[in-house]
Order: sequence, then structure tokens, then C-alpha cells
Amino acid sequence: MKLDVITLFPELVEQIVAWGVVGRAADRGLLDLVTRNPRDHALDVHRTVDDRPYGGGPGMLMRPEPLAAAIREARESLPSAKVLYLSPQGRVFDQAYAAELAAQPELILLCGRYEGVDERLLAREVDAEVSIGDYVLSGGEPAAMVMVDAIARLLDGALGHSESAEQDSFSDGLLDCPHFTRPEVWEGQAIPAVLKSGDHKAIAKWRRQQALGRTALRRPELLERLELNKEDRRLLAEFSEQPLDG
Ligand code: 6GU
Repeated sequence: MKLDVITLFPELVEQIVAWGVVGRAADRGLLDLVTRNPRDHALDVHRTVDDRPYGGGPGMLMRPEPLAAAIREARESLPSAKVLYLSPQGRVFDQAYAAELAAQPELILLCGRYEGVDERLLAREVDAEVSIGDYVLSGGEPAAMVMVDAIARLLDGALGHSESAEQDSFSDGLLDCPHFTRPEVWEGQAIPAVLKSGDHKAIAKWRRQQALGRTALRRPELLERLELNKEDRRLLAEFSEQPLDG
């Protein structure tokens, strides 16, 4: 997958391919990320990319010309790419949207700074706006990095067998179940006995029940979107009869 990120802070965004799972995906050639700085397309000697808003008010906006020039240059190398502008006004990014984007061969991500960008640039050059949640960031860069991470781990071959994406939270619309490693007893707390039973069916059932139960407790709105089968409904009812422990 080829990604072109347009940003005033390319060194910041490039850090996402320097470490961990995303770094390994890039090393394996699954992901090719380049950055492009709109400042390189500024029209004046001071390399100005911002200006005051018409109508007055606080803050500065990004002028359309340097952004359009950067996007058009990106399109020359990625002709089929959709251009996504990262802003709190966009469609909220979730696991399903990540999977949709991971299926694209090319994407161009546009990061804004200041109070935003000239609306005419969005109308002319941008295909969709994407938000990573209902809070305000100082710029689109952290959002682009979040999206690149969520997308990269879904690319074929990015994860080892031991870290398959099917087991992630949200991949089936539920939160993840609890996990335990050694020691078996830590500061007086033992692990759930079923996990040592060697009964793989019982373990799978317990994990499913825990995932259903904590989703019901912590994120009931996620459960409402799912059609639970009879067994899931039974597991959830049984979970609700148990005393709360976390
Ligand atoms: Cl994509 N950008 C900015 N600046 N703030 C955000 C956001 C994006 N998503 C949530 N808050």
C-alpha cells in the first residue's frame, strides 16, 4: 500500500514507520509511506502557508495554493488515490473504516494545522474528511499516525501468527477479553482456573463470555449494533449473574 502524507511536520509523521509493527510492515515492503511539505510549494520567499480568515476572528488558516500544489504533486505518483483531509468535522474513524481503507492500494492524507484550511481547497481537492474522535488536536498529524497504525496492522503479512488481527478488540465488534501471563499467583491474585484447565473449548467459551460481558458493561452501545446468537445471549445472561470483579 502506498501512502502520501501532506504535512508541515514530515519528521513527526515519519516516526510512525520507524518503530514496531508499522516499522516492520514498512521494512517488509507492505507499506510505502512518503511525506510532502506544503511549505515547499509556498509562493513567497518567506515560504508562507497561512493567512488570516476573511470575516475576522482568531487564528490563522492554511492558504489553498501550497496545499493544492502538494496534493497535485502527490496525485502524479498516486493517480488512483483518494485524498482524505483529517479534521474533527470528518467521518469518525473506526475499525470498519480502517479495514475499508486498508483495502485501497493508494491513499493521500492531508494534515491541517492552525484553525483549518480554506474551504475551497476541500471542495476542489478532497474526497472525504476523517476524524479520529470527538476532541480537538492541534493538527492532523497525530490523527494521520493513528490511522496509518490501524491500517498497517491490517495489511496481509504485517502481523505474525501469534498476533493475528482477528483476535483484536473490535474485529468482531466486541471489546477484547482479559489476558493473563505468569506468575500464576501475583500479589495474592490467582489467574482464572479455566485458563489452566487445558480444555480449549471451555477456554474459548470463557473468553467469548468475558468479551461479551465487558462490552455490555463498558460499551453497551457496541453490543446494540450486533445480532447476538442464542449461545452468545446465554453466555451474556450467565455473565450478568456472576459477581462483578472488574
Ligand atoms: Cl483528524 N484533526 C484534528 N486537528 N483534530 C482532531 C481530529 C483530526 N480528529 C479528532 N480531533
